[in-house]
Amino acid sequence: MKTLIFGATGLLGKALLREWHSPRDEVVGLGSRDVDIRNAARVREVVDDVRPDWIVLTAAYTDVDGCEQKPEQAFAVNRDGPVNVAEAAKGCGAKLLFLSSDYVFDGGKKSPYEVDDKRNPQSVYGRSKAEAEMRLQEILPGCCIARTSWLFGVGGKCFPDTILKLAGTRPVLDVVNDQRGCPTYSIDLARAVIELCRKNARGIVHVTNAGDCSWFDFAQEIVRGAGLATEVRPVSTAQIARPAPRPAYSVLSPTSLRSYRIEMPTWHDALRRYLTERTS
Ligand SMILES: NC(=O)c1ccc[n+]([C@@H]2O[C@H](COP(=O)([O-])OP(=O)(O)OC[C@H]3O[C@@H](n4cnc5c(N)ncnc54)[C@H](OP(=O)(O)O)[C@@H]3O)[C@@H](O)[C@H]2O)c1
Repeated sequence: MKTLIFGATGLLGKALLREWHSPRDEVVGLGSRDVDIRNAARVREVVDDVRPDWIVLTAAYTDVDGCEQKPEQAFAVNRDGPVNVAEAAKGCGAKLLFLSSDYVFDGGKKSPYEVDDKRNPQSVYGRSKAEAEMRLQEILPGCCIARTSWLFGVGGKCFPDTILKLAGTRPVLDVVNDQRGCPTYSIDLARAVIELCRKNARGIVHVTNAGDCSWFDFAQEIVRGAGLATEVRPVSTAQIARPAPRPAYSVLSPTSLRSYRIEMPTWHDALRRYLTERTS
């Protein structure tokens, strides 16, 4: 199997390159310096040159607050870029797996989101990902859309890294307790994505670590797991002003992933492995 990864220099991209090590597989990983996915002609040129069986499209403008301030860039990278990649995939007969987000939902549910729940994004980032999903389903109805959430891992900016850096300099941290979701370790997500490609997955699949929590719960576990004495205090979303609205509840159901016989480790287990990886 020959796979082309757009976004290989990102958090998930690095984990994919690390985990995709079967001698039967060939993997080509590209960052934005190699190809800007907004450039349709360049995307087409690279896809025609590599002629992959699978394209994994993880490249995105992932700064949720930045997207609110630069909506043109958000839609250009997160919607128009994926359209360019899907057109190129269609042109050469490659299969496509696109990474999407829990932020396509409004957060109004009280039970885990299933793949066919209605999209109703509240932020520019969420809208750009939701519109990409819809365009990709039109261009390549057989494509796979893997929605994930609260991604963390070594080799990039992420919530646990921010908490650990702040905990080193402050005695108390205020963290929101009224947003609930599923933390997801880049290594576990990468393994699941590889499995999905091997199993020729189609349609929408929700891929997160098992279990859910609030950002406050997550921060407490991070501080405790790292053996730090920093106090973590719960606060409400209203107390911390951010440019982009976040869903209050964006827990993704594992049912779609189980249909491929893929089980994810719990986020507690994932966090332990992350903390070990981070210090080694
Ligand atoms: N992070 C989360 O919490 C989260 C949650 C839900 C879903 N997701 C989705 O999961 C995927 C992976 O996220 P991540 O955290 O691994 O992202 P990331 O670390 O921010 O990496 C983004 C990647 O996209 C590339 N990129 C950005 N703009 C590009 C452009 N115009 N052309 C080509 N490549 C471009 C970057 O390349 P350079 O580094 O070379 O510039 C980098 O490789 C994304 O699709 C994201 O939307 C993330």
